[in-house]
Amino acid sequence: MASIRVVGVVGAGQMGSGIAQVAAAANIQVIMADLDDAALGRGMRAISSSLSRFVKKQLLSQEEADATMSRLRTTTSLQEMHDADVVIEAVAENEGLKTRIFGELDKLLKPSAILASNTSSISITRLAASTQRPKQVIGMHFMNPPPLMKLVEIVRGIATEDEVFDTIKALAERCGKIVSCSKDYPGFIVNRVLMPMINEAFYCLLEGVGSPHDIDTGMKLGTNQPMGPLALADLIGLDTCLSIMRTIHDGLGDSKYRPCPLLVQYVDAGWLGRKSGRGVYFYT
Ligand code: CAA
Repeated sequence: MASIRVVGVVGAGQMGSGIAQVAAAANIQVIMADLDDAALGRGMRAISSSLSRFVKKQLLSQEEADATMSRLRTTTSLQEMHDADVVIEAVAENEGLKTRIFGELDKLLKPSAILASNTSSISITRLAASTQRPKQVIGMHFMNPPPLMKLVEIVRGIATEDEVFDTIKALAERCGKIVSCSKDYPGFIVNRVLMPMINEAFYCLLEGVGSPHDIDTGMKLGTNQPMGPLALADLIGLDTCLSIMRTIHDGLGDSKYRPCPLLVQYVDAGWLGRKSGRGVYFYT
């Protein structure tokens, strides 16, 4: 099993910055990339604010938080990831974008490096086929928010080697996570089950079965979930929920997975959830 010294994270959004944080907290050197300094600045501020919350709750000492920050570097150039042992791609849920980034990383990373994707539903086998190292491509799917959520879903492509799986499982465990393994199948396990529930909550809203408050309170208190499905959709991002639903619908070809027209309309309106200030709910 390969030893991991440096991890690259591509994307400094809520998932990328959260993944960078948990890896740095696990005593790993991390280099986080995004398109511009503004995105990297937002990512670093999110990490710093998350670490401060842990310090305030005495789950972490100030020294540990400072040491975590010191293990993080940022860059706008993927070239600077050349010495990474593992790169975790965490950009938007767009297959064309992901394959472009994988193709670029494949050319510049050392031959032994592993290419992992945080994709929440796209085929790992297809992403792997866009590289010259399909045996070293794997899905490493963190849950949102990564610093709090215990699970990492690991997805093997058809060519993924056992040693690569073992290395990524050990990396997830070193980051304090518990692993669940899924076959490379549309939506994997978590989103195959979660997204139809969120989609159905949008149908309930569309059909006037209940208000957002009633739907979320019903599901939160009636099924003991930390938050209702509409609030969770706002946290995940409605655009992400829609693209996952589309991947499941296209991949399985069953009309029961058709995205709710109201979800489509919210995304068309730019109501993407917490990140845009408005989704089902309003955020300041
Ligand atoms: N870092 C550190 N602490 C954080 C944090 C972060 N990023 N985000 C929230 N917290 C802390 C807050 O400080 C707060 O602490 P106290 O209770 O001690 O004050 C606590 O967590 C609760 O936070 P909020 O008051 O902000 O409550 P919230 O309801 O808005 O959020 C939550 C908390 C952890 C998100 C919780 O509601 C939850 O677990 N929700 C479900 C999340 C979930 O299901 N995620 C998986 C989504 S599916 C997925 O990710 C897969 C995919 O591909 C789409």
